[in-house]
Amino acid sequence: MKIMVMGTGFVGLTHAAVCSEYGHIVYAYDIDSSKINGFSTGNPDKIEKYVNEPGLSDIVRDSNNRSLYFTTDFKTACDGVDAVFLCLPTPPNLDGSTDLSFYDKAVNDLAKELNHRKNKKRIVVINKSTVPIGTARHLLRIFKKHNVDNIGVASNPEFLAEGNAVDQSRHPDRVVVGCDTEEDFKILRRIYSQFVDHVRIKYIESTPETAEAIKYMANTLLLNYISFWNGVGARIGEVFDNVLIGDLRIGVTSDNRISTWGSYVSNGAGGSCFGKDVRSLRYQMSQRGVDTTFLKAAYDVNEYQKKYLVDRAINELDFMFNNKRIAVLGLAFKKRTNDMRDASSIELIETLLGKGVEEIRAFDPLANEEAAKCFNPHKNHLFSRINYFTSIEEAVSGTDALFISSDCEEFRGISGVINRIVKPPYLIIDGRRMIPDCDTLVEKGFSYVAVGSKSLKGKNK
Ligand code: UDX
Repeated sequence: MKIMVMGTGFVGLTHAAVCSEYGHIVYAYDIDSSKINGFSTGNPDKIEKYVNEPGLSDIVRDSNNRSLYFTTDFKTACDGVDAVFLCLPTPPNLDGSTDLSFYDKAVNDLAKELNHRKNKKRIVVINKSTVPIGTARHLLRIFKKHNVDNIGVASNPEFLAEGNAVDQSRHPDRVVVGCDTEEDFKILRRIYSQFVDHVRIKYIESTPETAEAIKYMANTLLLNYISFWNGVGARIGEVFDNVLIGDLRIGVTSDNRISTWGSYVSNGAGGSCFGKDVRSLRYQMSQRGVDTTFLKAAYDVNEYQKKYLVDRAINELDFMFNNKRIAVLGLAFKKRTNDMRDASSIELIETLLGKGVEEIRAFDPLANEEAAKCFNPHKNHLFSRINYFTSIEEAVSGTDALFISSDCEEFRGISGVINRIVKPPYLIIDGRRMIPDCDTLVEKGFSYVAVGSKSLKGKNK
């Protein structure tokens, strides 16, 4: 089949690459010519500059100009196409609703192009991005308005987690396809032929609206689950004597019905999806008169979690942030990515600077460069107080406290490094519970405050 993928971000590039592995001819189209030129080279550095996903550049390099083509030429990409995947941005509006302008524009452009096609074979346009419930039907109406013949619009949401996207595309838990007609289902079955009737992978067919709703329900439920652990589990460990959060987690998640994923308490979940999707679903439901207290709670707990440890340090350990130097370890929203979208470090650093911190000494193994763009001093002059370092040692050196703000493996068990680089009195704030032997540091006089347990004041020597 000839497949066109519109939009070559994380989702689009991964989908285009993996579709070419399925045996289709894929045209990946983007308006950004520097990106398209970079991908066309097949050079891993030039690909990873835009999308840094393990294993992805290998597929792009191997498929380039054989089954995967990159183009900014809309006509070429559309010519003779069987299916078009829309992998376009869906940014949030201020009120939480979803901005569909990229979608509307793409569909209008497609409509104009497809109207001229000589061959009137059936074409399916497929939404991959998370779009409000009813968007497929809205797009179909645009095609109808332009009198495009023989076209269907389907929903086929992606469920990819960053860092694992290639593997998950090759071996998904489920493929969800929402179409209106059997003709369209057939085209999707051809695209995903290796997953249909698979012994393990669930191939789910339903209405476009149900497919759209599945994506929202899944993401908001995942955030809700994380927020339950953060807003209830972590609090239990923080306010009751002798409750060990790690044992609490194992004890609870040993029930087959309760997931281990999401049970790791943290200084909040970030990323491009959870916050945006929960706000969008809230908006969609409240527009229909539904009480959305539940969704609001999941979101609010997560936002609170991003900065409450700063208040705990002040209230429970009398730590004053004014004029202090603080190391922040972990800037991206999670390990193994440079993605800063909705990263907890953003709220954290803004909070710290608001408390009068003199210098933030930041380190992330992958995200320093992206973070520097995010914390642009032109946006907020206080961001000029952030300096970036290429090792934990350099970032921690000369500081009064450190904050672990993501789950990078490099931060696990860094008590030896801390002990070597800085001397007590010194405060460690652990947003990811990365220092299991914190007791030894407390014995030496280091103070420790972590999500999920009581604060420990450094012992006086
Ligand atoms: C997520 C969903 O997993 C994916 O299905 C959806 O399509 C997009 O959103 P991703 O944004 O890549 O994927 O991140 P994920 O790995 O799910 O982690 C989200 C956040 O939750 C991260 O900040 C992570 O550190 C945090 N998290 C995760 C926790 O705080 N505790 C946990 O136990 C698990």
